[in-house]
Amino acid sequence: FDTKTKPYTTDDKSSFAYISARDRWPVILTQAIDDVFQHTIASNDPKYTKEGKKIVEQLAKLKYELQHDRLVTPLEDDGEDDIKGYNEELEALGDTRWFTAPWLFIECYMYRRIQVAMNLSTKWKSHDIFQVQKTTTFRSSLVAVLELASKYRQIVTTIEEPSEPILTPEQVAEKDKLLFIEMCEICLWGNATDLSLLTSLSYEDIQKLQGSEARKQNEKKVLANDLPAVYAMLDRLKHEGKKDRRVDIILDNSGFELFVDLILGGYLLSTGLATEVVFHPKSLPWFVSDVLPKDFADLLNALQDPAAYFTAPEESQKTVEPLTDVQKSDLGFLFSRWAQFHAEGQFVLRPNRFWTTAGSFWRLPRVAPALFEDLKQSELCIFKGDLNYRKLTGDADWDPTTKFQEAIGPLGEQGSGIRVLALRTCKADVVVGLPEGKDEELRSADEEGEGRKWAWSGKWAVVQFWDGVV
Ligand code: F6P
Ligand code: MG
Repeated sequence: FDTKTKPYTTDDKSSFAYISARDRWPVILTQAIDDVFQHTIASNDPKYTKEGKKIVEQLAKLKYELQHDRLVTPLEDDGEDDIKGYNEELEALGDTRWFTAPWLFIECYMYRRIQVAMNLSTKWKSHDIFQVQKTTTFRSSLVAVLELASKYRQIVTTIEEPSEPILTPEQVAEKDKLLFIEMCEICLWGNATDLSLLTSLSYEDIQKLQGSEARKQNEKKVLANDLPAVYAMLDRLKHEGKKDRRVDIILDNSGFELFVDLILGGYLLSTGLATEVVFHPKSLPWFVSDVLPKDFADLLNALQDPAAYFTAPEESQKTVEPLTDVQKSDLGFLFSRWAQFHAEGQFVLRPNRFWTTAGSFWRLPRVAPALFEDLKQSELCIFKGDLNYRKLTGDADWDPTTKFQEAIGPLGEQGSGIRVLALRTCKADVVVGLPEGKDEELRSADEEGEGRKWAWSGKWAVVQFWDGVV
């Protein structure tokens, strides 16, 4: 039940798989080691310190094995059910080295193996080695957070108390559709700032990527855009009067991206395009910045007390202006709305271990049937980000003009029972659903020659929809 199309592998020197394994993962592991080390030396608890030293050793060993292209070893049993699946897959692959492995498998394995080291301790099980980076980066998003908070408040207030000149029904319909598309595009571009790729960006770079000007310029960078069809579907269901209409968001990164996911979720509830939004976070620290349940709580706390959160003295490389009363009140508006949605069960958080297995989503119906049945209850499943797109498409070397529904396998069948929307900024080689000639055009515009480099940087995006319900 995997695709027969060849997956990307780390020995393909023209792919981002190879560059990731050679250049990015050692940096990520070094940062992880440093994080554990810093927490270890800051603690007075002897057991915590002792275990911390052991974890440092285990992570250093992992890094050594990667950099010396050693055989990939089975995961130690840490008592969790998913270990078996990882080890069976490794066994099925036969002797696998770090630089001859399927990209998707080995990258997931790396994050899972970090967690094994944590799980084998007593005091570090829920330690998030990426927490410090997540917080620092979200702090540098303050300008965009404030811009969107103000915009969100205006939109929601207008929906609740319309005070506009009378528009014709056609004008209203057009306006609502455009607003929906804009909200989804905000949510899409929020994915451009994930930490696994962009750790080297400066404070100014991050701000440039997140503002409304950047989004306008980016419209042409969306290579496939199925949002009008998605809007038509949600609007139709609303007008058919179906009472319960759920939308699911398979989350990607925490911080700014989670913030825009909540903006989209809140907007869908306020417009009545959905009556419930289910968010799917990860169960262990994953691809650096992915959302854990606690990140959700941290975000709400940041909105509730922004002055405390956004001005951390130890990281004040920039002087942050004190927030104005209007800004505080905009953030307070968001907090009260979202906390209320959460309290009333309209915002639901639903983790599942399937999201941190190594397989693609082609396996979802077989490997996680209960989760699949649950997702079928939803009107729309929005898969955020690059890794989810790689998993939807099996991270395989498809011809770029392959239809999206073909590349997502069982989920893309007629009557699969699930509606899939991918909101993805491209940060890996796999891409499907492009018009004939587009990939060639982008490749030739890229001066660096070989490979699909244009698709690695997060500057291009695809928004693709498959309706498996009709
Ligand atoms: O391609 C670089 C990369 O780190 C991949 O390993 C991973 O698929 C992706 O970026 C993570 O990005 P996102 O947070 O959008 O899933
Ligand atoms: Mg991510």
